[in-house]
Amino acid sequence: MKNNTNFILPSQTSARKRTKNISAIERDLFVIDDKIKGIGNGRTYFVRTYGCQANFHDSETISGILEDLGYTKSDDIEKADLILLNTCAIRRNAEEKVLGEIGNLKKLKRNDPDKIIAMSGCMAQEEEMVTHILSKYPQVDLIFGTHNIYNLPKLLYHALLNKEKTVEVYSKEGDIVEALPVKRDNHHKAWVNISYGCDKFCSYCIVPYTRGKERSRHIEDILDEVRSLKDEGYKEITLLGQNVNSYGLDLRLDYGFSDLLREVAETGLDRIRFMTPYPSNFDDETIDVCARYKNIMPSIHLPLQSGNDEILFKMNRRYNSEEYRILFDKLKNKIDDCAFTTDIIVGFPNESDEAFDDTLKMVDHCKYDNAYTFIYSKREGTPAAKIEDHIDMKVKEERLQILNAKIAEYANMHNQKYQDQTTEVLVDGPSKKDKDVFAGYNPQGKLVNFTGHDIKEGDIIKVKITKAKSFSLDGEAIED
Ligand code: SAH
Ligand code: SF4
Ligand code: F3S
Repeated sequence: MKNNTNFILPSQTSARKRTKNISAIERDLFVIDDKIKGIGNGRTYFVRTYGCQANFHDSETISGILEDLGYTKSDDIEKADLILLNTCAIRRNAEEKVLGEIGNLKKLKRNDPDKIIAMSGCMAQEEEMVTHILSKYPQVDLIFGTHNIYNLPKLLYHALLNKEKTVEVYSKEGDIVEALPVKRDNHHKAWVNISYGCDKFCSYCIVPYTRGKERSRHIEDILDEVRSLKDEGYKEITLLGQNVNSYGLDLRLDYGFSDLLREVAETGLDRIRFMTPYPSNFDDETIDVCARYKNIMPSIHLPLQSGNDEILFKMNRRYNSEEYRILFDKLKNKIDDCAFTTDIIVGFPNESDEAFDDTLKMVDHCKYDNAYTFIYSKREGTPAAKIEDHIDMKVKEERLQILNAKIAEYANMHNQKYQDQTTEVLVDGPSKKDKDVFAGYNPQGKLVNFTGHDIKEGDIIKVKITKAKSFSLDGEAIED
């Protein structure tokens, strides 16, 4: 493969930039030129996705584009003509997994030089990472960023037909690109982006740099998508945004997340979820809408990060522990039978034992149904990366274990409430381990494995719980 001028590299300095401009909506950016049409005919693609729902949904868009070009999906990484890794940069270990995988692909590329190896997603937005990959992993043919997905046909043309190494990563704040094709992985559950990017700049987090400025899609674009999903028979949608409940602030309309959520609920779709709300953007109107509409699932993910005020301040989270606790109590009192999950980081630079204790105290107060817990990971270019940290990794690992034990205890406590009770499950399909066992989720987001007859993916059925475990429930379908 020749080196060429198709190089637009990321810059974290430009990625940090924010203006007050309202983002442009681009409806005509995605085009397949005549010379590019059908370049995927007879070829296969394989996509592996890392990271959050936004990234998984991006992979569905990338798949849609590839299929428009004629490619067919393959589950066989060895045989696929195009291998794409859609990556995540949230923590060092997420990146290490990807680098390991790219390393493994070297042999495949050597055996078949016509194979295209591509990388997209948040790692592609990191300046140092792209330089590292270009110098150490020559097997990678194509790198494109989170703002460049629409241009994939052209980029692929360069890489595949011109045999040129191609890198296109914009770091600009970002527009909103509509009218991209999408090939959804699931036929009864769908993700719907309502906003992109993040302006919160938590001091530890890379997302504001990799995803750009916070920008909301237009109300009608979202509602049209929701209505057509309903018409296609989808049973559940999850509204997505890095700060899903600050929806609309950038549009400066008198219309916010609570209004959108209400309109989405009024479409009558069976199940509605949203990810991820930011605590200080959770207003009373949104709580009321959640409480009022039975098709908004009683399951709220409310990231805590830390229960200590000094750490929350250093994290640049815009709430203190008292405000978080008041919000939590309000949600719990107003929304019937609601499950709560959270995200917690242990070992933020110089987190003291007392600070960690405050986190444990908050967990004791909220008694979460489940939590995603992480050891702080230094991200180059973020403000926290500059703090000199005096806490031993061993201490951090111990804290994580203590925290996880507590989380498991409360998870089990909540699940025991379901013993011998009936719960409604949206069926995902037969379980991976046993074809006679089905799996699905109840309104509170609990994983339920159950037995039954004549059950189809996408059914919503009643299941009696026969055994409650810490992180899942076993049961039997109730036959009418
Ligand atoms: N926008 C969402 C999700 C962000 S990423 C939110 O604000 O909640 C998901 C989780 O990863 C975060 O909630 C945080 O707990 C964790 N995370 C982010 N950056 C991290 C870092 N540098 N080290 C460890 N965990 C991190
Ligand atoms: Fe990251 Fe904070 Fe934005 Fe969430 S709100 S994506 S943690 S910067
Ligand atoms: Fe990872 Fe990017 Fe999502 S860093 S968590 S894939 S926004």
